[in-house]
Order: sequence, then structure tokens, then C-alpha cells
Amino acid sequence: MNRNGLLLVVAMLACGRLVLTGQPQAAQGVFTSAQAEAGRKTYDNSCGKCHTYTLLGRKGEEGELPPVSTLSAPYQKFVGNPNRVPPLAGKVFLSRWGGKTAADLIARFQITVSDGFFQFEGMDEASTVNITAYVLQMNGAKAGPTPLTRETTAVVNSLVE
Ligand code: HEC
Repeated sequence: MNRNGLLLVVAMLACGRLVLTGQPQAAQGVFTSAQAEAGRKTYDNSCGKCHTYTLLGRKGEEGELPPVSTLSAPYQKFVGNPNRVPPLAGKVFLSRWGGKTAADLIARFQITVSDGFFQFEGMDEASTVNITAYVLQMNGAKAGPTPLTRETTAVVNSLVE
């Protein structure tokens, strides 16, 4: 075998190992139920006002809770007329975010939390991570012994299927 052929074999072996070590993490669950429960409370008091308590977003239809009329004036303006807010759970959400990692999702949520416009109260370092745990759970992922962190590399689809 020439040198290039050997390098190729070495590279393929290295890839195989990466794939194998990546899988057990997903199977175990990558957040605790305490994180998801804390995330639910924070979500319902912030994101949920617009994205709804079911996480399914708004299409301006009857029965979407909480009612838009209960939101502050700036929130109502942001939600628009007709009221449209993208979902954070379900098929449409997973078609957009399923291929990304849990860490990507935390980073995206962090942008919303850090954006001064919303003026969220009671958010700390752990809040975005906990909200992500709740969002993963609402999409069908199972809790486990390992806490979610900003470095969790499990792919969202591998957790919810
Ligand atoms: C005032 C209403 C409101 C609140 C509160 C709110 N959002 Fe949103 N969010 C929206 C609207 C409207 C959009 C779509 C327009 C846009 O992206 O700016 C959106 C878009 C998003 C998106 C992009 C969705 C996608 O598929 O690309 C994410 C992610 C998101 N919000 C997460 C959050 C999280 C997490 C929170 C809570 C920390 C939150 N939002 C709070 C109204 C809100």
C-alpha cells in the first residue's frame, strides 16, 4: 500500500471511532428532570407568553394560550397582527432544528434572552440551559442522570426519536 492509501485507512478508522463514541451520550438522555422542570417555569413566564404554553406557536387561531390580549403592548406589537409566532416543538420546529446540536439550541435561545428588547425578569446563567432542557423534553427527549451544558454535542434528532 502506498503512503496515501495508508493515510486514507488511518483517517477512516479515526472517523469510525468518533461516530462510535458519539452515540452513547444520546441514548442516556442529556438533561435532568430537575433542569426541565426549572425550564418549564422560566419558559411559561417568558417565552411561553408568545410561543404559547404548548410550545406550538401562534397562527392567530382560537384557543392559543395565553390569549394575546393578556400580553403587554410591546409584546402584542412584536407578535404582530395577524398573530404569528414560530413553534418551539413539533414537526416544523424539528425540521429546522433537528439536525443541530443541543449546544446550538442553547446558543440560539441565549440570543433571545440577551436581546434587551424582551426585558425578561429572573433570568440567570442557568435559565437558557434549563429552557433548552424543557424544549427538548416537550419534543419527546427523555431526561437522564447527565445535566445539560453549553457543551452538549448530542444532535437534537438523536434525542427525540
Ligand atoms: C414578545 C413575544 C416573544 C417572546 C417573549 C419570545 N419570542 Fe421567540 N419569537 C417571537 C417571534 C414573533 C418570532 C419570529 C420572528 C423573529 O424571529 O424575530 C420568534 C422567534 C424565535 C426563534 C426562532 C425560531 C426559528 O425556528 O427560527 C426562537 C428560537 C425563539 N423565538 C426562542 C425564544 C425563546 C427561547 C424565548 C424565551 C427566552 C422567546 N423566544 C421569547 C416572539 C417571542
